[in-house]
Amino acid sequence: MDKETFIRQYSVERKQTDSLKWDALAERFGDSELLPAWVADMEFAVPETVKNALAQRAAHGVFGYSIVSKDYFNAYKGWQVRHEQTEFREEWLSFSTGVVQSLYDIIDCFTEEGDAVIIQPPVYYPFFYAIQDKHRQLVTSDIQCVNQRYVMDLEDFEQKIIDHQPKLYILCSPHNPLGRVWREEELAAVLAICEKHQVLVLSDEIHSDIVLSGHQFCSSVTVEKGRFLDNLIIVNSPSKTFNLAGLLNSHVWIPNEKLRTQYNDWAKEYKQTEFSLFGQLAAKVAYETGDDWAEGLLATIEDNYHYAKARLTAELPDVVVADLEGTYLMWVDLRAYIAPDDIKGVVQDKAKLAIDFGEWFSPEAKGFIRINLATPPTNIQQAIDQLVVAIKA
Ligand SMILES: Cc1ncc(COP(=O)(O)O)c(C=O)c1O
Repeated sequence: MDKETFIRQYSVERKQTDSLKWDALAERFGDSELLPAWVADMEFAVPETVKNALAQRAAHGVFGYSIVSKDYFNAYKGWQVRHEQTEFREEWLSFSTGVVQSLYDIIDCFTEEGDAVIIQPPVYYPFFYAIQDKHRQLVTSDIQCVNQRYVMDLEDFEQKIIDHQPKLYILCSPHNPLGRVWREEELAAVLAICEKHQVLVLSDEIHSDIVLSGHQFCSSVTVEKGRFLDNLIIVNSPSKTFNLAGLLNSHVWIPNEKLRTQYNDWAKEYKQTEFSLFGQLAAKVAYETGDDWAEGLLATIEDNYHYAKARLTAELPDVVVADLEGTYLMWVDLRAYIAPDDIKGVVQDKAKLAIDFGEWFSPEAKGFIRINLATPPTNIQQAIDQLVVAIKA
């Protein structure tokens, strides 16, 4: 589907629908009049087929205990074959209510209180929360910007592992907020370090379908033909791709049988939740029929990115917009124009934008902002207009 059709057919007004992004601005930012470009969901309705399937199920009127549809895995597998060429096996799969919940669960199951867990900031802030809330020791190895490209600092990463002996590494792939889609050789290098030092890898691949043209997602599962399978747990979900976060359906993939048994034993004790009937139905139908919709979505994100980058850098030549390879989240360095301590005053109070502030992702990233691009172009144009005017003032 072309982007004009996608935008025309699927753009939705979300105000007053109990949307976190639109209706919690007063609570979260202290100002209900802001234009929201923060939390990672979209102003786009799901594919028509998904809406119809949910409506039909709702009309049935019975929402008792259900079972996983026999077609669920085949639908997922079909999607994978068409889009990512990652071979997941059904026996690796269990369900959860969200990827963040799974971060907490995996930390609980595979580490002990006081154990170290390593992450690479700037990174999705619930990685920090999960480690700290679970009373594990936070170890960080910052991603570096080298020649305007974000890369892992493998020497530092290995040294931190030697110094702190973490039990777990949480990888963000594709990377939120830096927009990197890690290449196979980059993943192979970091996974080899973890293998060498026996650090279990939790790979958060929730953004795997949001990959811009010219880039190819590589799951940790497929790196070097599955060399690292035994040391890997993958968490992903259809929720970013199809805007389904509110339906609470996500995946946990554990290829190694021993680790899987350990997780299942843990889950028996701590995780007796049923899965989401509506979440699974929506995902299954989206996997089966959402290709055309997803094409329109990607074209829209890509166009919004090129527009925002071109406009920002034309008006404010020293703004640095990170290359966007994947995710719909644009990472922008405003430090050339705004002192890091004044960011909120300019971006929120003057430009009237609700965005994710850089320091949420790393204390070193004050002065950066993250802008959500998964919205109709009119919102992006308005956001950039407001930002440019506020900075120039
Ligand atoms: C890297 C990453 N993991 C997890 C999530 C949230 O996942 P969930 O809503 O399934 O908890 C997000 C949402 O933006 C994310 O960017």
